[in-house]
Amino acid sequence: MFETLTSPAPDKILALIALLRDDPRQHKVDLGVGVYKDREGRTPIMQSVRDAEQVLFAEQTTKTYLGLAGDTAFDTKMTELVLGDAAPAARVRAIQAPGGSGALRILFELLRRARPDATVWVSDPTWPNHIPMIEASGLKHVSYPYFDAATGTVRFEAMLAALAQAKPDDVVLLHGCCHNPTGANLTLEQWREIGKLIVEKRLFPFVDIAYQGFGEGLDADAAGVRLLATLVPSMVIAASCSKNFSVYRDRVGCAILLAPSAAEADIAYAQLCSVARANYSMPPDHGAAVVRIILTDPARRAAWVAEVDAIRERMIVLREGLAAALRKHSGSNRFDFIARHRGMFSRLGLSVEQVHRLRAEHAIYMVDDSRINVAGLPDDRLDDVARAIVAVL
Ligand code: LMR
Repeated sequence: MFETLTSPAPDKILALIALLRDDPRQHKVDLGVGVYKDREGRTPIMQSVRDAEQVLFAEQTTKTYLGLAGDTAFDTKMTELVLGDAAPAARVRAIQAPGGSGALRILFELLRRARPDATVWVSDPTWPNHIPMIEASGLKHVSYPYFDAATGTVRFEAMLAALAQAKPDDVVLLHGCCHNPTGANLTLEQWREIGKLIVEKRLFPFVDIAYQGFGEGLDADAAGVRLLATLVPSMVIAASCSKNFSVYRDRVGCAILLAPSAAEADIAYAQLCSVARANYSMPPDHGAAVVRIILTDPARRAAWVAEVDAIRERMIVLREGLAAALRKHSGSNRFDFIARHRGMFSRLGLSVEQVHRLRAEHAIYMVDDSRINVAGLPDDRLDDVARAIVAVL
């Protein structure tokens, strides 16, 4: 049976986990996979999550099935977290999914059921796992220009010009905030222009929001997707709780859809549940129940928001520190964009060879496209990191 198979190409992000683990150098720096790290380099369980887990442990009386949509109170609270009051509840449906990836996958499959010939337009660059998921769902994809590596800014005019070529019902995949891998984000005015183009060309928006709260704040980071929801008749959203609740391994995500009418929303929801049934049946409960406990209790929610705020503020300080250290060591403002970017990532604009030299000679790990996870920067060694980067230029 298996002799027909050949090894798949390793995932460029996940492969770094093993490489780093096997590196014996004490001073190694992990700027690879997108998980938050504190000052000590740990990825701690948030206090609000620990507290909610205690509540869940004390209150849960059964582990019987919940149903294809998982925890429906979680679904409602996640819809509120992402959309606020931007869309009428009658036209919105949501189902819990196994992580943001699970939400992406079932939504792509839903779109393939609805429009098998649609092409998905993805930003160049995008999160590498978008492409395999689109392909596994049976949809086609094409890229639109997004990032100008020389200036570290969004190529907005080129992006609009490319999307103007899309056919009606083509899908436009947008990063809700904290663009992965570049850290360069759309302004609200740009979201408005994209929304206008989507309506005019009858395109279909798909927003992947995996870092809400890590950019400018929980509401500010959702402003683009909320604005879009007021402009377009229908859209889908894949939301992840992995990062902003730090529940990575618990697999907590939510697939949200907006339809032109309640009747259409009901059918799309039933189809989405049927996609889930054909894949994994029901999503894992634990992490979503914890998120629901936090989001339904105002005091717990406030404690969690304070933790998210602290994470974001730490990453902004690290951004400013690294940009300043690079200015000092390179004698140029080439890397100033790091301080302007928001979210967990920035792309440094190094070649693969330079990235590999940083790994081999300085034990600094980043993705081959020179994406760094800002949260992995060591507070007290920003000068060392900057000096190493400049040394390989
Ligand atoms: C990342 O981009 O590093 C994270 O989203 C983790 C992953 O699954 O790739």
